[in-house]
Amino acid sequence: GLPARVRIHEVGARDGLQNEQTAVPTEVKAEFIRRLAAAGLRTVEATSFVHPKWVPQLADAEQLYPQLADLAAAGVHLPVLVPNERGLDRALALGADRIAVFGSATETFAARNLNRTVAESLAMFEPVVARAREGGAHVRGYLSMCFGDPWEGPVPVAQVVGVARALLDLGCDELSLGDTIGTATPGHVRSLLSALNGAGVSTDRIGVHFHDTYGQALANTLAALEHGVATVDASAGGLGGCPYAKSATGNLATEDLVWMLDGLGIETGVDLAALTATSVWMAERLGRPSPSRTVRALSHK
Ligand code: HMG
Ligand code: MG
Repeated sequence: GLPARVRIHEVGARDGLQNEQTAVPTEVKAEFIRRLAAAGLRTVEATSFVHPKWVPQLADAEQLYPQLADLAAAGVHLPVLVPNERGLDRALALGADRIAVFGSATETFAARNLNRTVAESLAMFEPVVARAREGGAHVRGYLSMCFGDPWEGPVPVAQVVGVARALLDLGCDELSLGDTIGTATPGHVRSLLSALNGAGVSTDRIGVHFHDTYGQALANTLAALEHGVATVDASAGGLGGCPYAKSATGNLATEDLVWMLDGLGIETGVDLAALTATSVWMAERLGRPSPSRTVRALSHK
């Protein structure tokens, strides 16, 4: 049956902004994160400690993260992406206690996103996960291209399960299944979740991360919820896209997700009106309207 409560892992400030061409001022990012937390989101991914040339938009991580200290002290989780030990050092120096490594189920995307083979990227993550956990940090393992890859086409379930297992074996606390380019459909989601369970991965360690390129994100989410998944990634206003994945557009919009969950009587702790106001505010900063259907419906009354 459906979970009684869903933990929303908000990625708007990271996945949502990483692809923006014009630099968003650090103060605007901090205010965005502050407003997201005020709307009731308890996990707000803040930024990435990656190479600044690879993702220029997030080059201000050192300036941004310390501005969020009061939120962290108030118990808001502020995970950050870390690809390697250099990134981990930068994150730990600022007191980060929740990190995420990000692997790929396909070789092409591993090469384009991390400049590594899949095996080399797992080797790169190994000391990151070990050191983070020694220090008591929580570690999420993202896995991209779990369904389709723009260069390789549909990705075999067994291939995804293999890399997923490897990430968990490194010591990741949770796994987030990325549909990076939004080509998944609900039957495919069910197959992958069942195969993961069959490989000994329990559903309570799995989160889902859908991009809405083909309008399937909400249907895929419902399929995952019916399977027992209770952690769902979403991006306020539907912002987003990956700079290294051809044809990746925005994530599932957090407002669209909350509208559905509210209707199903599933608790999220999120105030939809406050969240929508935040996305309208952010859309004004970015100079274009939010692509979220729910944001549009609720803000054009
Ligand atoms: P590389 O060029 O192979 O790096 O990039 P390297 O290890 O050869 O190091 C080269 C130089 O970069 C060195 O400096 C390092 O110190 C420096 P030098 O000695 O030459 O002066 N360097 C760094 N500097 C700052 N911070 C660091 C860092 N690492 C190395 N962390 C690397 C390899 C992994 C660094 C690069 O490929 C990278 O930064 N990639 C990040 C790409 C990215 O952020 N993509 C978006 C996130 S993933 C995503 O969006 C998908 C997701 O949403 C799920 C889904 O939708 O599927 C999560
Ligand atoms: Mg993503």
